[in-house]
Amino acid sequence: MTVKHFLRDDDLTPEQQAEVLALAAELKAAPFSRRPLEGPRGVGVIFEKNSTRTRFSFEMGIAQLGGHAVVVDGRSTQLGREETLQDTGRVLSRYVDAVVWRTFGQDRLEEMASGATVPIVNALSDEFHPCQVLADLQTLAERKGTLRGLKLTYLGDGANNMSHSLLLGGVTAGVDVTIASPEGFLPLPHVLEAARLRAKDTGATITVTTDPDAAVDGVDAIVTDTWTSMGQENDGLDRVGPFRPFQVNATLLARADPQAVVLHCLPAHRGEEITDDVIDGPQSVVWDEAENRLHAQKALLVWLLEQQQ
Ligand code: CP
Ligand code: NVA
Repeated sequence: MTVKHFLRDDDLTPEQQAEVLALAAELKAAPFSRRPLEGPRGVGVIFEKNSTRTRFSFEMGIAQLGGHAVVVDGRSTQLGREETLQDTGRVLSRYVDAVVWRTFGQDRLEEMASGATVPIVNALSDEFHPCQVLADLQTLAERKGTLRGLKLTYLGDGANNMSHSLLLGGVTAGVDVTIASPEGFLPLPHVLEAARLRAKDTGATITVTTDPDAAVDGVDAIVTDTWTSMGQENDGLDRVGPFRPFQVNATLLARADPQAVVLHCLPAHRGEEITDDVIDGPQSVVWDEAENRLHAQKALLVWLLEQQQ
């Protein structure tokens, strides 16, 4: 049997993503209505990078589904040592019904998935953060009623995990996605190619620009993220100067649609990528967005487990 993994946003077709988002809304309204992990069945949740939201939302979500989360710091396991990731995937599949993993290279997730007989879920890699974007889409759907045809602009590091996942996950939902980044920080070509392929199916548009002002004119949603992702702290690049014009502040926000909403996956670096008045202002939906991690991930787990039956 083929195992359904969620390693990147386009692992879900537009129809499958819509199913997960509908289930997320259902679970938000009735958090204890689904108990597929009753037993308890287990889910491994492994972190090789820091986390607040992902850790709490997965651990609580798994409990609410009736299961048990085995939450571990990857550094305390054999993961960083000599055992292959494929062998690890094979072994963990004998203990738990899914593995949620925050790691570095996307290749690591793919290698573990190649040995696993249970779903592997990407809880953030250097290239993608697909669980976050499910929560972002849920938040947008709540505020705007529909996703198809919405105009969303992401400002910041176009080559990071949030930019890539917003591109892939956004166009999958039929959202018109613009990425506005300084020169040298544009999305990776292979991700753009995959997004363009998916956009052909959904009719969404993709724009990549170095002009932050034009990028936000009249848009429905503005999204930003840290200029320095985990693991990039010492990469030798200037991750402040070139990014200043891309700061989400009141002047920039005023160019968007008056009903536009502002998202940030958090943690926020106030005064850098976003100002206090915007993140704490009436157009910010970041706290709902953070809450929706819980609902969207529960929905994802329920949906993935159903695929395995
Ligand atoms: N947004 C997000 O993934 O937050 P954490 O790093 O705190 O999990
Ligand atoms: N791009 C950020 C997201 C944090 C949730 C990082 O990878 O550090």
